[in-house]
Formats: sequence, structure tokens, C-alpha cells
Amino acid sequence: MTRILGIETSCDETSAAVLDGSGDEVDVRSLVILSQDVHRVFGGVVPEIASRAHLTSIVPVVSKALDDAATPLDDVDAIGVTCAPGLIGALLVGVCYAKSLAFARGIPVVGVHHMEGHLFATALESRDAVPPFTGLLVSGGHTLLVDVEAWGRYRLLGATRDDAAGEAFDKVAKLLGLPYPGGRHIEALALGADPSRFRFSRPMVRRKDTPADANYYAFSFSGLKTAVLNAVKSSADIDADRAAIARGFQDALVDSLVEKTFRAAVAYGRTRIVLGGGVACNSALVVAMRERVREIGATVFAPSPRLATDNAAMIARAGLFHFERGERAGLDLNAYASQPIPGLVAA
Ligand code: KG4
Ligand code: ZN
Repeated sequence: MTRILGIETSCDETSAAVLDGSGDEVDVRSLVILSQDVHRVFGGVVPEIASRAHLTSIVPVVSKALDDAATPLDDVDAIGVTCAPGLIGALLVGVCYAKSLAFARGIPVVGVHHMEGHLFATALESRDAVPPFTGLLVSGGHTLLVDVEAWGRYRLLGATRDDAAGEAFDKVAKLLGLPYPGGRHIEALALGADPSRFRFSRPMVRRKDTPADANYYAFSFSGLKTAVLNAVKSSADIDADRAAIARGFQDALVDSLVEKTFRAAVAYGRTRIVLGGGVACNSALVVAMRERVREIGATVFAPSPRLATDNAAMIARAGLFHFERGERAGLDLNAYASQPIPGLVAA
């Protein structure tokens, strides 16, 4: 059994967690997540402010996670820290702090890819959300469709050609005059709104698509965003139309995510679908996904909001996997704003 400390600072959450485990048998002993509310004022994450906020929070957040887990540093066997992708200044805070602990206390460190962390998140609470599965990661910065044959063997099938799914939610929320981050506000507004008043076309979904088409698994949301903008501009009474526009947007985006995921599950014969990232909090997405994959008898696993959004428990879990494989980072471990997920296999 390994006791691992996870550290996550890639965007606007400072998070630390302590996990006990071996293989898929893990126990989350503690999880602390400090969200930086300051960015709301600016309508988006301001990188320099994020780095500074991580600097002031990292020590108390890690201390709290260790205290909550009743774990002195001497009992920590390994540290898993997010080293890519993300805001470079924000990532560096976590990476430098992890390396300092490693150097001072002789604790081994492994660097973790943030998106691989998201793939592991749901398994922390659903024992069956383990490979093989079709993974759909939908966050503010990424939209990835991945076939997960085994932990550490990832076939990247599709990504967004432009905006990420969460980014589209946030931008459309702004067009509709809703607060940032806008995903949950759109979901709330769309609930119960008339789905037939605004029907936007489903991005990158055509009935005659075949696996040979380059965009068979790809996503694109900027055209949909423009369609929403046009609807807002031509509305005679936006207060009366706002909810129906939100509904039309969400339906189109969800349909596109669901259809591509369904295609991937069929193509690779998977009967498990695992969702991750902030947009996986969206109930309309989860419900539509369950309905679509019923005909192939697949089960959909969605993480609870605390594990869907950025957190260090998923980083500790992915770190445990790499630690158990014997991987160790040196003190030259660095942070990278973008980097492919490790363990990619040819599609
Ligand atoms: O994974 P996450 O916490 O951070 C990133 O790594 O980006 O995802 C944040 C994104 C935001 O764009 C937010 O609007 C979206 O997740 N989000 C939602 C919902 N809750 C959060 N989108 C749609 N419906 C929701 N209920
Ligand atoms: Zn994330």
C-alpha cells in the first residue's frame, strides 16, 4: 500500500489530497480544494492573479490535507503533482513546492498530466469506472474523446477544432448576460425551457459520416456560438427568449458530445462510458448520454461535481498509477503549458 499526496495548481483551484492505495483499491483520506473566486470579477481566469493566489494558498492547503488525513509528512510515500497542461505560472507553483518537499524530506515525486488525472477521477467513487472504457473529457480548456484500453494506454480519437465545450458554455453565458463561469447557469435556465423554439444545427454531426472521415470523432463549437450570437442579436425580446436560446444551445452541444461518444463506444466495442471535467456536472449531458447508449447496453459513469472539476485526488490517483510502475521524476521536473497525454497509442 502506498500513501500518496496529490497537488494540483494548473488553473484556478489550489488543491491537495491524500490517498491510500494499491492498484484500483484506493481510499481518499482527505481532499482540500480552494477555488479562486477573484476571477469572477474579470469574467475569466487571469493567469498572473492565479499564480499569485496559488503562492499564498499552497502551504495551508497542503497542510490542511495532511491534517485531515492525520498524516505527518514522514508518512507520505510519494507525491503526485500536476506538471502539464495548464497555466505555466500556476503549474510552476505546485511543481516547485512538490520538488521542495521532495528535496527536503527525501520523498519521491511523479509528474502527472492533468487530463490523465481527469480520466481517473470517476474511478475514485465508482469501482466499475475502470478500463476498458470510452472516456469523454469536457472542461473549460479541453474536449477530448479517448478510448482507454487500460490505464496508461490511451487512444486519442477526437478533440475540439476550436473552443472547448466548457469554454462554449462560458462564452454563450456571457452573450446571454449570465455570470461567469456560465455552465451551470445555462443548465439551470435551459431546464424546462421550450426545446423547439431555437434549433441550432449539431456541430460536426452528419448522418452519412463514416469512420474514414477526418471529423468523425472531432468537435467544433465556435460555429454554434456564432449561431447563438445571431439569435441573440435578432431577438426582439431577449428576456423572453433567453431560456429557450440557452436550451437550444445546450441541446445542440450535448447532442454533438453524445453522438461522437456513442460512435467511439460502438467502434471499440466498449460497454462503459466515463465522463470527466467540469461539463460532466451537466445533468442534461449525463441523461442524454445514458439514453443514447442504452441500445448498446453501455453504462455511463459521471463523477460527482467535486471530482468532475479540478481536484488533487484525481492527480494523486494518476500519480499512484505511475509511482507503482516505478516512475520517478528528478529535481529537473518542469511544468509545461501543453503536452500530449502520456501513454498514447495509435488510433
Ligand atoms: O474541469 P473544470 O473545473 O476546469 C477546467 O479544467 O477547465 O471545468 C470548468 C468548466 C467551465 O467552463 C464551466 O462553465 C463548466 O466546466 N461547467 C459546466 C457545468 N458546471 C461547470 N458546464 C455545463 N453545465 C454545468 N452544470
Ligand atoms: Zn481540469
